[in-house]
Amino acid sequence: MKEQNLKILVIGSGGREHTLAKICTASPLAEEVIVAPGNGGIAREFKTLPLNVESNEEISQIVQEEGIDFVVVGPEVPLCNGAVDELNRAGIPAYGPNQSAARLEGSKAFTKDFLNRHNIPTASYGNFQEVEPALRYLSTCALPVVVKASGLAAGKGVLICESVEDAEAGIRDMLSGSSFGDSGKEVVIEEFLEGEEASLHLICSGESYVTLPMSQDHKKVGEGDTGLNTGGMGAYAPTRLVSAEMLEMYKDSIVAPTLAGLKADGIDFRGTLYIGLMLTTDGAKVLEFNVRFGDPETQVILPLVDEDLVPVLIESSKGNPLPAELKIKSQSSMIVVLASKGYPEAYPKGEVITEPDEAPENSQLIHAGTALNENGEIITNGGRVLGAVGCGNTLYDAKDNAYALCEMVYYKSKYYRKDIGHNEFSRK
Ligand code: AMP
Ligand code: GLY
Repeated sequence: MKEQNLKILVIGSGGREHTLAKICTASPLAEEVIVAPGNGGIAREFKTLPLNVESNEEISQIVQEEGIDFVVVGPEVPLCNGAVDELNRAGIPAYGPNQSAARLEGSKAFTKDFLNRHNIPTASYGNFQEVEPALRYLSTCALPVVVKASGLAAGKGVLICESVEDAEAGIRDMLSGSSFGDSGKEVVIEEFLEGEEASLHLICSGESYVTLPMSQDHKKVGEGDTGLNTGGMGAYAPTRLVSAEMLEMYKDSIVAPTLAGLKADGIDFRGTLYIGLMLTTDGAKVLEFNVRFGDPETQVILPLVDEDLVPVLIESSKGNPLPAELKIKSQSSMIVVLASKGYPEAYPKGEVITEPDEAPENSQLIHAGTALNENGEIITNGGRVLGAVGCGNTLYDAKDNAYALCEMVYYKSKYYRKDIGHNEFSRK
């Protein structure tokens, strides 16, 4: 692989990929950054190419035709489809786990068995492919109980059930294939955990890893964390919920056994490991693993890194040891997601967006669900449209900068939560 003047391909189309492309282009190692398929805002800043991210063949074709030196895979679907395995077979280094490692996100049943086998704290559970044994297990569970489709479900496959009837209906729906297709053909029935959630992102290369600042996101669409679940309405980092001492404890009780367990199971994990934690009164427990950067967490975490990340991504892709730690700014960062009213249910598309020519200092507008129309105007094209990111010496400054930017953007169905960070601000 070339050592510099790299042509880097970022795969994906969301705010996460807009951020990754910005990080790559800022690297002295990069000559050009191409994003496929990208979105409207990304297309104004970078060369973009059409791509069905689910097709390994199309990915390989772009890499060959464009003479790509290094690929960064953003979303979980191509990772679970083995995009990295395919690229590696063609001799192209690609950041992200291979298909076998991506099962940590692609199969919740696999992950629960993995956690159990390696004594890593998590909610008690059962995995089922048949209705009758699932219902027998359900009858032994306390309420509320959590029912999950094992496979990928774009963050929608989790039901928190207050009654046995709701849980039974969820189990029947999933196992019959009617609610989540093949992703629901196996279900995980899980103990409900109480506590506050935090996300820990690692960049891994086998058992070697670096941590990124801990973040928290707001999954519910409504203020006060009410209403339907979404892909995330806002996030901030770092969070004071987890002290440096607590993080050291989690490294011992969760991170090290996870990476050692993967190795023992013959899985060479390279790429991002996103650990969703529930901080219960009984200690931190793993809620889930994702095998890619979070969206919108990426938009707040990566700007806090005070060094070039591209060499770290490259070393991870090659399975080489990583530095002990990354240089992190002593700042805070917040993203407020600008959505289309109606999201996560039906919402309008195609509305023209007005945005400032340049975002004010310490803020940036990240594009997610946007497109360019035939007049070259930016229009809405998704539920989560934009992310207003603010940075500052304190989270209060970051918040002021993010919200000031929200007000400088206009489209008809603009909707955003006004209370991002409320739990952090009310912490003593
Ligand atoms: P998952 O995709 O497994 O992380 O689940 C999505 C969201 O559902 C989590 O971020 C939690 O808010 C909630 N959740 C999942 N599992 C549990 C659980 N066992 N107890 C309480 N909440 C849960
Ligand atoms: N924001 C949650 C996720 O990316 O899975």
